Amino acid sequence: MKRILFAIVCVCLWQMLAAQTERLTSPDGRLELRFELKDSVPYYSLYRDGKAVVLPSKMGFELEWRDDLAHAFVLKDVERSTFDEVWQPVWGEEANIRNHYNEMLVTLEQPAGVVMSADGRSKTMATVMQLRFRLYDDGLGFRYEFPTPNALVCFWFKEELTEFAMAGDHTAWWIPGDLDTQEYNYTESRLSEIPALWEAGHKDGGWPWTAFSKTGVQTALQMRTDEGLYLNIHEAATLDFPTMHLDFDPQSIKFRAWLCPDAAGYKGRLQAPCHTPWRTVMVCDKAADVLASRLILNLNEPCVLEDVSWIHPVKYMGVWWEMISGKSSWSYTSDFPSVKIGETDYEHAKPTGNHGANNANVRRYIDFAAANGFDALLIEGWNVGWEDWYGKQKDFVFDFLTPYPDFDLPSLNKYAHEKGIRLIMHHESSASTINYERWMEKAYNLMNQYGYDAVKSGYVGTIIPFAEGHYSQPINNHYHYAIVEAAKHHIMVNAHEAVRPTGLCRTWPNMIGNESAMGTEFRERIKPGHTTILPFTRLQGGPMDYTPGIFEPDMGKIVPWGGKMQHTICNQLGLYVTFYSPLQMAADFPEHYEPYMDAFQFIKDVAVDWDTSIYLYTEPGDYIVTARKPKVSSLNKAAEGLASLPDGKKGVISSAAHYVYGLEELDTLVNLEKIEPLEVWYLGGITDENAREFSVKLDFLKPGKTYDAIIYADGKDATGLPDDNYNPYSYTITQKKVTSKTTLKLKMAPCGGFAVSIRDR
Ligand code: NOJ
Ligand code: CA
Repeated sequence: MKRILFAIVCVCLWQMLAAQTERLTSPDGRLELRFELKDSVPYYSLYRDGKAVVLPSKMGFELEWRDDLAHAFVLKDVERSTFDEVWQPVWGEEANIRNHYNEMLVTLEQPAGVVMSADGRSKTMATVMQLRFRLYDDGLGFRYEFPTPNALVCFWFKEELTEFAMAGDHTAWWIPGDLDTQEYNYTESRLSEIPALWEAGHKDGGWPWTAFSKTGVQTALQMRTDEGLYLNIHEAATLDFPTMHLDFDPQSIKFRAWLCPDAAGYKGRLQAPCHTPWRTVMVCDKAADVLASRLILNLNEPCVLEDVSWIHPVKYMGVWWEMISGKSSWSYTSDFPSVKIGETDYEHAKPTGNHGANNANVRRYIDFAAANGFDALLIEGWNVGWEDWYGKQKDFVFDFLTPYPDFDLPSLNKYAHEKGIRLIMHHESSASTINYERWMEKAYNLMNQYGYDAVKSGYVGTIIPFAEGHYSQPINNHYHYAIVEAAKHHIMVNAHEAVRPTGLCRTWPNMIGNESAMGTEFRERIKPGHTTILPFTRLQGGPMDYTPGIFEPDMGKIVPWGGKMQHTICNQLGLYVTFYSPLQMAADFPEHYEPYMDAFQFIKDVAVDWDTSIYLYTEPGDYIVTARKPKVSSLNKAAEGLASLPDGKKGVISSAAHYVYGLEELDTLVNLEKIEPLEVWYLGGITDENAREFSVKLDFLKPGKTYDAIIYADGKDATGLPDDNYNPYSYTITQKKVTSKTTLKLKMAPCGGFAVSIRDR
């Protein structure tokens, strides 16, 4: 009897708890998260200044073989806490990042059932699911946790049920959901227009296209409400879990999480104790606050690497654009219709004469990169196998070890190191992840042997193992494995076609780059304004290897089938400031820079790692104007690492350090610790197809000081629009004394931009 009474009291208590709304407010009190169980189904909603931003939205999962985590929940417990810290990223947009949030951990249970324990005995146990909410001033993060003891031990998701119910028909910048590519132009439309515009958006993408729904979109999804709030849905810390796309329901204006399935159709296989990635909803008053938000990084775990001294920012060139533009090729011969690695005899093959990665050409690039103070040079097409690497679904496609006969790996590395340049390794896996894992240890060892400290990897084509997509749990685990193994070898990784990042670079800062969006390689297909959207979307999860710096955008001058890229030279300069990446490329050929060395000077002078960033003017799809102050401590780190190699040149100074320290000669043997750096700022602007003018107040400079400014601006007749007036080459360079009271009037041509370097001397 006592037991029954106790049970009744418990049920009543649970029902009381279930009826109530649990609330959590952000540190500034403006955002409020509400959680409630309605008919024992969990819902969350989000309010800004009392107004709904996310209407009540369902939470939970459908499971294989067992009751769904979707209903029959009771509220067991609610814990609240607060957290405030300032942390320092190894590299980033600012030297110090504040991580300040209020947290609520909600524990839900489904009634106890009979479960089998590992020793074969049966016992009664409840199913436990916790919801951890973190509320920041600029948004919400929440994730599902499955602690032990729990009736759930090993379990498989059929579907995630998380909803994001929007409070209005917002304007959105979106790319279509796809299981294999993220390389799309963005569509700007009302949410309600997604179904009508989806097909055209999907046709725009890179191969292969693997749609899951004609209303599916990818994250990070940027939106603007009619009241002018900027909302952004993404995820953070996606580890051992599939990527979350969003499926839109036009009737209810709701998004539902849509997880990328594995080959068997499962959407996550979990083992308790475990948790999902964070689902995030950013809420900002101004577009600039989205760029300044560190929500995604803050939701990731702190750095797990004890020694990070080998990780450094990189400014690089590459034997790369030659192949992308069609001027030269990755492959060495046309003798073989079919290559078998280890069997095909390359030594006796007839070269086509068009192989980009040949000794003489690589030396030419090393000479140019060294003369201009770059840190590194990427070389693609150095290894055997490129004759049939693409579209053949070959498992054993490359060994990542064997150079072509005209690529002398040891002597080119020696030559580069003596000149103060590191070579960047290239591993195109052709999406055969199993083959890459087979060779990875040997490939990383080869890199260690010759002093490569960075690799660009790639995942073009159909994933092997077959029937996996690019963003399923097992393939996301592969990308992560490559990062973790690389860290053991002190190797930095820049993966192309890998899953779009979710802030994991905080935890593994050797992940210095990713492509994972439409980058410069799409040439004339890139729409004006594309680079004004990416910082709001793709870059929210981490830096992008966008590969800017194309000074000859008329591709028709390189190959007959080439079209006109829609940007001016100054637009490309502006990207080095508006587009954050600790790994920045000057992607064009040396001979395309040579006629414009005065404009190229900005690419030499600009830093790639920052102490402070200020987002002055911005609107997604239209323009970005940013000011940044370099982080002096990392300016010369790449060169210091190189100097520690037995054949590395001692005392080489990077071009940006040269500018910041006011050194005359690039190749100066000086101890930078003994010199006081100058105060330096860089300013960058980019615009879409519309010409614009901005008045930029330099009030971020120190009062009372006079600085020298060099202004790189579009010429009067400059335009990147591909009509009869196409003139991307026109620019002016002016020098000016400025102070904190100066206002610069900066004009941008259609598809144009500007760059300014400012130094206190
Ligand atoms: C696609 C990458 O994005 C590009 O940068 C690379 O050159 C090719 N794959 C070949 O690996
Ligand atoms: Ca790519």
